[in-house]
Amino acid sequence: KVTLLSDIFLKKKNINTVILINGWVRNRRDSKSGISFLDIYDGSIVTTLQVIAKNTLSNYVTEILKLTIGCSVKIVGKLIHSLHKKNIYELKAHLIQVIGTVSSPKSYPMSAKRHTLEHLRNFCHLRPRTNIIGVISRIRNTVFYTLHKFFQSKQYLWVATPIITSINTEGGGDMFKISMLDTSNYELNKKIKNFKKKFFNRSAFLTVSGQLTLEAYACSLSKVYSFGPVFRAENSNTKKHLAEFWMLEMEKAFTTVKKISNFSEILLKHVIQKVLEKNSLDLSFLKKYIDNNIFIRLKKILNINFFHIEYKEALDILLKNSHLFSEKIFWGIDFNTIQEKYLVEEYFKAPVVIYNYPKNIKPFYMKLNSDEITVSAFDILFPLVGEIIGGSEREDRFSILENRMKIFKETQKDYHWYQDLRKYGTIPHAGFGLGFERLILYITGLNNIRDVIPFPRSVGDLKF
Ligand code: 4AD
Ligand code: MG
Repeated sequence: KVTLLSDIFLKKKNINTVILINGWVRNRRDSKSGISFLDIYDGSIVTTLQVIAKNTLSNYVTEILKLTIGCSVKIVGKLIHSLHKKNIYELKAHLIQVIGTVSSPKSYPMSAKRHTLEHLRNFCHLRPRTNIIGVISRIRNTVFYTLHKFFQSKQYLWVATPIITSINTEGGGDMFKISMLDTSNYELNKKIKNFKKKFFNRSAFLTVSGQLTLEAYACSLSKVYSFGPVFRAENSNTKKHLAEFWMLEMEKAFTTVKKISNFSEILLKHVIQKVLEKNSLDLSFLKKYIDNNIFIRLKKILNINFFHIEYKEALDILLKNSHLFSEKIFWGIDFNTIQEKYLVEEYFKAPVVIYNYPKNIKPFYMKLNSDEITVSAFDILFPLVGEIIGGSEREDRFSILENRMKIFKETQKDYHWYQDLRKYGTIPHAGFGLGFERLILYITGLNNIRDVIPFPRSVGDLKF
């Protein structure tokens, strides 16, 4: 039976027994006295296990002395407490079986030298072998699992919303269009234009959000959430935007925007708490190489109340400090990155929840307030990453929705089913979308969103 390194270092299993481990070589040092020290990793934990290989092993000269970084091995040996301060445990090898060698160690892209994250992006298939991507992957996993668990524990039902859609939920021209390709028949491929029409008999896109279909389920099952990839053909080549990212969306019946924004604050803190509990070694690694302040930063978030303000108040703050910004500031603007950064990092020095945005800068589905110029929206802005959550109360009044759709030039034909939800037993309901990678970016303290998703897709970049 294989022992994982996390069983050893976290659960302290199998000490002083003979075990089998599978893994890869991170490093090899040889002493003059005929002993080699191998650092082995298996991905279950950031820590490597030091393996002692003596020249009495039958393949010592033929194989062990040739091991280079990246080689894969199976090792049987006795796990003991280490006498050296640096290592807690070490494995005295009885048998080392080399499974895969590295064909040309000199040109192996993941060589021992430290690479920049930017350089690693050229090797998305090999970069999970680095410590940093291992750390991020384990944190992603904790966050993914914690989000599901949190909603499940609160009796929310998970709903699979479709990826192929005919509508543009968020408005604007930022969708990917899909078409059909018959790869088995070249002649048919040439007639691809006809095919496109034939399959759905209408244009089809990759979804930007599952929200509207999730609403259909909230309007009967009361508490629902979805969690999956969404797609945006936004032409914004920034460190915070991906063309494919994961979004957790929740939708709740008979509720208000204030209630769900408070709920989302609890959710975000809960997730950060769980990462602090489960990924302390990973965070220690990040503290050393990415953000020296990481523990203080994350713990501080747990203990502060987010600031809750109106769009109007945020605007007034910016207006009072307008000399700091090059763009003109006036009622109706959508705050840009610099303005958001100022509010969160300079002015409040804490996450900020902003309510009641001008109706013209938000999608048609948001509930119109009684002032008739704002909608009952909320955005949660975080330090380092900006908007992490966007949500709103939904327009549940049929005639107002119809009117708003006309203004946004949304057709009745596309949204008749959405309007039905208001025709038959309408209810006040609200929901939000949480940008999964934005949250990971915040937690890890990394700078570029391309480094917190395994295979990033962004403008002009589809390497893998
Ligand atoms: O604010 P957004 O566009 O909201 C919606 O899509 C709503 N339908 C959600 C809902 O109410 N159910 O996106 C939600 C979140 C943003 O707050 C941001 O964190 C993230 O998704 N996000 C992105 N993350 C990475 N790359 C992008 N291009 C993103 N665009 C939005
Ligand atoms: Mg938004």
